[in-house]
Amino acid sequence: MAKRTIRRIDEQTASKDLSGRVYIVTGANSGVGLETTRQLVKQGGHVVMACRRVDAGEQEARSFAGSKGTYEVMRLDLADLQSVRDFVTTFTEAHDRLDGLACNAGMVNMSGERQVTKDGLETTIGISYFGHFLLTELLLDLLKRTEDSRMVILSSVVHAGSPNNRPQLHLDDLNYESRPFSAFPAYGEAKVATTLYAMELAERLGGTGVTTASVHPGWARSNFGGGGGFVMRTAMAVMRPFFNLSGMTDSSEESAQTSLHVLLSDDAPNHSGAYFSQSSVLYRDRECKNGGWPMETPNPHAKDRGMARELVALSRKLVGLESTSAP
Ligand SMILES: NC(=O)c1ccc[n+]([C@@H]2O[C@H](COP(=O)([O-])OP(=O)(O)OC[C@H]3O[C@@H](n4cnc5c(N)ncnc54)[C@H](OP(=O)(O)O)[C@@H]3O)[C@@H](O)[C@H]2O)c1
Repeated sequence: MAKRTIRRIDEQTASKDLSGRVYIVTGANSGVGLETTRQLVKQGGHVVMACRRVDAGEQEARSFAGSKGTYEVMRLDLADLQSVRDFVTTFTEAHDRLDGLACNAGMVNMSGERQVTKDGLETTIGISYFGHFLLTELLLDLLKRTEDSRMVILSSVVHAGSPNNRPQLHLDDLNYESRPFSAFPAYGEAKVATTLYAMELAERLGGTGVTTASVHPGWARSNFGGGGGFVMRTAMAVMRPFFNLSGMTDSSEESAQTSLHVLLSDDAPNHSGAYFSQSSVLYRDRECKNGGWPMETPNPHAKDRGMARELVALSRKLVGLESTSAP
C-alpha cells in the first residue's frame, strides 16, 4: 500500500508565541484533544481543559510539566446542558478573552440501544453537536470581543458517507425518537450537524473577526469507540493491532494537526466555515482520500445552507435558547 501523506502544521505556525492567549479544548484529557492541548501549551498558550472527568484531565496534564504555557482543568459534561451553562459561567468569571474554542469531544454510542443525555437528547448527537452548540452560542460575545478568535468543531470522514449512501439530517427526528436507533448512521448524522454548524456560524459571524471550521482529524489511535458491549469491545481489541500496523491510522499527535492548523495558521481564517481534513483511506470517494486544508465535502447534505439555517433555528429551541411554545 502506498504511504499516505500526513498533513502537519508548518514551522511558522508551530513556532508562534501564544503567550497571553486563552483557549478552550473540550475532551482535553484524551486522544486528539489531549494532543491539541499539548501543542497549545507548548507554544505558551493558556488552555482550559474542559473535561467530563476532571481527575483524568489533571492526570494527563502532568505530562505538560516544563512547558512554556499553562493550563487549568474545568468540569464540562456535554451530556448535561446545565453543566455547559455552569462551565460558561465559571470560565467567563475567570477570563476576559477567548482566542480559540476547540469543540473536540465526541463519542459514538455503540451500546446497540438508543440512549439519551440528561436533557433527553440522543447521546451521540447530544454530546458531539448539541452540547457544543450551546457552549459556542454562550461564548459568542467573548469570541467577538477577542481579536482573530477561532472556533473549530470536530466532524468525521463518516459524515461523507459513500456515493450511494450520504448521511443526512432528519430534522423531524434528530433524536431518534421515531426511528430505529443505529450507531453509525447516528454518528454520521451528528457529524453532518457539526459540519453544517461551522458553515452556518461562519455566515452569521461574517465581518466580526471570528472564524470557524469543521475538521476530520484522521483515523486516530485514541480511546475513541472504546465503549460498547462485550462483542464490540472484543472485536475492537482483536482488530486494533492490525489497524495500527496497517499504516491506515494516525497517532493522536498527527490527528491534532488539522485542529491546530485551524486554530493557529495564518491561512485558515481565509476559509471560514470550511471543512478541513487529514488524508484518510476511509473516504469512499477516491478524490477525497488526500484530504485538504480546506477541502470540499462530497456530501451535498453537509453543505446545504438552507438545512444549516434550519438546524440552527431548531437547535436554539432544543437547547433552551428560545422557547419551544407558540408566542
Ligand atoms: N478517533 C478517530 O479516528 C476519529 C475520527 C474522526 C473523528 N473523530 C472525532 O475526534 C474527536 C476526538 O476523538 P478522539 O479520537 O480523541 O477520542 P477519545 O480519545 O475517545 O476522546 C474523546 C473525548 O471526548 C470526551 N467526552 C465524551 N463524552 C463527553 C461528555 N459527555 N462531556 C465531555 N466530554 C466528553 C471524552 O471524555 P472521557 O475520557 O471522560 O470519556 C474524551 O476526552 C471526537 O469528536 C471524534 O468524533 C475521531
